[in-house]
Amino acid sequence: MSGAGGGKGTKMTRMLEGAGDIVRTHRLRKEFEDLVAVDDLDLKVGPGLLYGMIGPNGSGKTTAIKMLVGLLRPTAGKAYVLGEKVPIVDNISRIGYMPQEMAIYADLTVHENLELFSRLYSMDRELFEKRERELLKVIDLSDRRDALVSQLSGGMKHRTSLACALMHDPEVVFLDEPTVGVDPELRVGFWKYFADLKARGKTVIMTTHYMDEAVRCDLVGMMRLGRLIGEGTPKELMAMTSTSDLESAFMTMARKVGT
Ligand SMILES: Nc1ncnc2c1ncn2[C@@H]1O[C@H](COP(=O)(O)OP(=O)(O)OP(=O)(O)O)[C@@H](O)[C@H]1O
Ligand SMILES: [Mg+2]
Repeated sequence: MSGAGGGKGTKMTRMLEGAGDIVRTHRLRKEFEDLVAVDDLDLKVGPGLLYGMIGPNGSGKTTAIKMLVGLLRPTAGKAYVLGEKVPIVDNISRIGYMPQEMAIYADLTVHENLELFSRLYSMDRELFEKRERELLKVIDLSDRRDALVSQLSGGMKHRTSLACALMHDPEVVFLDEPTVGVDPELRVGFWKYFADLKARGKTVIMTTHYMDEAVRCDLVGMMRLGRLIGEGTPKELMAMTSTSDLESAFMTMARKVGT
């Protein structure tokens, strides 16, 4: 759908597209019995971009991401991450993934969880310690480093999970609702960090329900009933729908495509 906006925005999308592919899908599809969770999804994300997937509950965002990271087998279609067909094997250490559900160990401390992830990626001790200090600052948990995860608040657990996904400094990171339950002040800090990742050429693919976050993404993909109903820069999406905010843009787009 990108390119339908005309004018300046279209040029912007072409430039972004021209950057090459970190993620590419062709009619990627996932069916759960008679439910089509992801319906022939065509995605193309270049390097150094922040791609935000938005859409209501059950629109297929998590299912799409799980297929990209190799946790779910597609029913049909193809997907490539870093040029390798999924499920990727060779490039697995170049990707990071923060699931929507908690995927860290409650009976380990924050430090032990981070250390475990560093071991999974065979990081040397010095690098691990440096990354740990840096990430604990980002998630503002330096003073809770030795606390058991089971004793942390929900938001703190979520923040620890983000740090685990980023520990090995992956080239592309899939973040499924990374800021949910995180207080506004820390969300600002997270966004500074995402900007820093981008500045270092990393690619971030995230899902969010917060429109103030989606508007900060380079490209936004609008999902509804498993389908990508709109894609473009936030400005393009608003221009295409003659709206001034992404929420209205989404609703207008949904009406346009008749879903
Ligand atoms: N393992 C599964 N078995 C059966 N149905 C599933 C399974 N996982 C997801 N679904 C269904 O697929 C659809 C898409 O779910 P998905 O979790 O991808 O949505 P989402 O966009 O991530 O939603 P949310 O914003 O709530 O996280 C939903 O109808 C959901 O019930
Ligand atoms: Mg989800």
